[in-house]
Amino acid sequence: MLVNSKEILLDAKKNNYGVPAPDFLDLDSARTFVEVAEEYNRPIILSFAQAHRNIISLEEAAIIGKFMAESVKVPIVLHLDHGEDIEYIKRAIDLGFTSVMIDASMDNFEENVRKTKEVVELAHPKGITVEAEIGHVGQGEIVGQGEGQSGTSSIYTTVEEAVSFVKQTGVDSLAVSIGTSHGIYKGNKNPEINFERLNELAKAIEAPLVLHGGSGTGDDNLHRCAIEGISKINVFTDFLVGAMKEINEVKPADFIALKKASNEGMAKILRHYFKVFSRDYK
Ligand code: 13P
Repeated sequence: MLVNSKEILLDAKKNNYGVPAPDFLDLDSARTFVEVAEEYNRPIILSFAQAHRNIISLEEAAIIGKFMAESVKVPIVLHLDHGEDIEYIKRAIDLGFTSVMIDASMDNFEENVRKTKEVVELAHPKGITVEAEIGHVGQGEIVGQGEGQSGTSSIYTTVEEAVSFVKQTGVDSLAVSIGTSHGIYKGNKNPEINFERLNELAKAIEAPLVLHGGSGTGDDNLHRCAIEGISKINVFTDFLVGAMKEINEVKPADFIALKKASNEGMAKILRHYFKVFSRDYK
């Protein structure tokens, strides 16, 4: 069932668990994520990132996402991840995405507010939910290093800015930076999460909070994030790692077997994260 993210994330916030937001790249990964969601009878935020537009087009992603979402009973959100510009976001809305992210987190505060408000005004009349980011979740080791904490270009989210941002923009959910970064981490070490900041943010902000850069963060960290105020957890790289692990173990003899191993590798990761993100994990 295709839905926006409103009710799903409010329920997650109220009941202290995290909804997985896996990024799909093709028909196989989208189908795998939706099938696992149906198997667990739990919603997911099926995400397509603008950064992957050269792998499949937005039109293809919309067709795949809508078809998969409508083919199951469990609620599925079709979400544009890291929307970079208004034109692309408008296209996603017109194509039937039920949720969009505007990522202007590298702009200054005022510009981030201005762009986010513009997207909210576009999306809300159509019943589409909006996520934005304040502070900045940087890149891990794969993509390069910048300034900031522990070899990433991340900038922690401050409570004051986050409160003011939500008030000024009316966003439905807010991505915050509390220690993760996108991609894998140097030496495969789990990052240090600023739980004190998370607790302050969760107390001060009514909108559900989102964690980007879920991969490689470690199960204990992710579980604690989920029960202490993060309602949506974005994961991408771990699915690629899981697919390759399965392929390397199975050593498929032909292309069909290779696709099957890749799908199974991704399914294992999502099954695992459904457990980790739930309140009663362990
Ligand atoms: P990872 O690749 O680190 O899991 O990050 C995914 C993400 O945050 C997508 O928005």
